[in-house]
Amino acid sequence: MRFISEDIEKYCKDYSVKDTDLLKELSKTTWETEEIPQMLSGSLVGGLLQMLIKISGAERILEIGMFTGYSALKMAEVLPEHGKVHSCELMEKHVKTATAWFEKSDINHKIIIHQGEAVKTLEEFQAGSFDLMFVDADKVNYPEYYRKGNTLLKQDGIAVFDNMLWSGTVLNPNDDDAKALRETAELIKNNHRLEPLLLPVRDGVMIYRKLK
Ligand SMILES: C[S@@+](CC[C@H](N)C(=O)[O-])C[C@H]1O[C@@H](n2cnc3c(N)ncnc32)[C@H](O)[C@@H]1O
Repeated sequence: MRFISEDIEKYCKDYSVKDTDLLKELSKTTWETEEIPQMLSGSLVGGLLQMLIKISGAERILEIGMFTGYSALKMAEVLPEHGKVHSCELMEKHVKTATAWFEKSDINHKIIIHQGEAVKTLEEFQAGSFDLMFVDADKVNYPEYYRKGNTLLKQDGIAVFDNMLWSGTVLNPNDDDAKALRETAELIKNNHRLEPLLLPVRDGVMIYRKLK
């Protein structure tokens, strides 16, 4: 299910900040060569991430789900020189592809890839060490990414979860992915220390701020 028509989405993109040439090339190649190119978040979600990073002054970012590297590169673009995106990715194929794109950029030094099961990788980080996290990997693990990731966020840190509407199937969840996404929304809603906002951008973006 599309939440907005293709024409409206195009209109939104036309009146929003454009991707750099490198990101445009990465997206085009991903759409031409990958089996599931729609996994790439795209310029509206990416633009929202950039805006949140700029407004909040985030410098240390955790990404769960890198794919061909679009969102990691998009976020790294607006980080200060010493800022870092720590990106978790399971598949070696995607790590190789993304690495090649990062090496083409002049901000490769801002991205650190952690290959493996993200749930395990998250155990390597210290509590409170990230300003912002972007969760965009396998949906069944979203509740766990929320639990573990939330402890890794600083107070006042920002979390962004992609695909939280899952083509609308979260309304009547009847598979494991939709059930896990609904469970994640419930967990976030029931934590009174968070300020959630679920927006129908693309496939649904849940944003929250971790209060003191
Ligand atoms: C939706 S894509 C990420 C898209 C990316 N954020 C972007 O905007 O281009 C999800 C990625 O998560 C990875 N993934 C799936 N399960 C994972 C797991 N258990 N641990 C780490 N990465 C995983 C997939 O291989 C895939 O590349």
